[in-house]
Amino acid sequence: MEPLGGVIQPTLREIDDLIASYCPKGSPEYTKITGMSLALLRSSPLLRSLPPAALRRVLKFARWREFPAGMDVFTKYDQASHLFIIGRGRVKIFSASAGKKRKTFAYLGVGKFFGEMALLEGRERSASAQAVEDTQLLLIHKRDFKAMLLEDSKLAVTLLHVLSDRLRRANEEIEGLMFRNVLGRVSKTLITLAEQSGKRWRGGMLIGGKFTHQELADLVGTTREPLSRALAALRRADLVEVRHGQLFLRDPRKMRDLVGDGAPV
Ligand code: CMP
Repeated sequence: MEPLGGVIQPTLREIDDLIASYCPKGSPEYTKITGMSLALLRSSPLLRSLPPAALRRVLKFARWREFPAGMDVFTKYDQASHLFIIGRGRVKIFSASAGKKRKTFAYLGVGKFFGEMALLEGRERSASAQAVEDTQLLLIHKRDFKAMLLEDSKLAVTLLHVLSDRLRRANEEIEGLMFRNVLGRVSKTLITLAEQSGKRWRGGMLIGGKFTHQELADLVGTTREPLSRALAALRRADLVEVRHGQLFLRDPRKMRDLVGDGAPV
């Protein structure tokens, strides 16, 4: 995400002092909080947009919870009480129908947040969330989230930025469902994953995390067979490789051209 102009970010030293002001330096709690908070702050646009006073409140009132791989964080239509920020691990956002069909909307990694929609709308959860790896989440109660939003317009701007990005991607996905075949949609999904969690490597992009064919099919909005055929075609075309279980896009630019998506990766 582009940095937002004029956002005042506390230095890591200031954060350290803040934490020490409510839990003694050297205590096990201090060590745990500083280790997690600093790593999280480096990667979380939401937390980084907070001024020190608001950050102090988050660190004071928020609590950490562990979710082992495969555990639900919440289910669609649940009542909502918290916003979540990912400190460690990965979370899948999805919707499942009674006939076992699933649509995965996103995989979210460290620093990303979720669960804000139900809080903002005062409604139930719009989708389910599940830990796909052993995951540690920072839970912020809706009361604190709302107080922070009302006090700090920069936080609201950061939130709008993320929500706009999600809406843009949702529009692109609708376009894809209408105008692209499965090969085009698989290519587009892999490009999106590379943008969100990829690392540049040997002139290409290595996608973070490992995905089964079923998981990729749920993301693309297809079933396993067409997904496997599309992946095989991309491998034959030397565009995609699997390296130690991770997907590697050898030539993301060419893939973008193929799906008619000209912006640079
Ligand atoms: P909420 O409705 O509270 O619970 C489900 C959460 O999933 C939702 O808030 C968002 O935080 C998140 N979410 C929903 N749709 C998407 C999406 N398309 N991309 C990323 N996250 C999403």
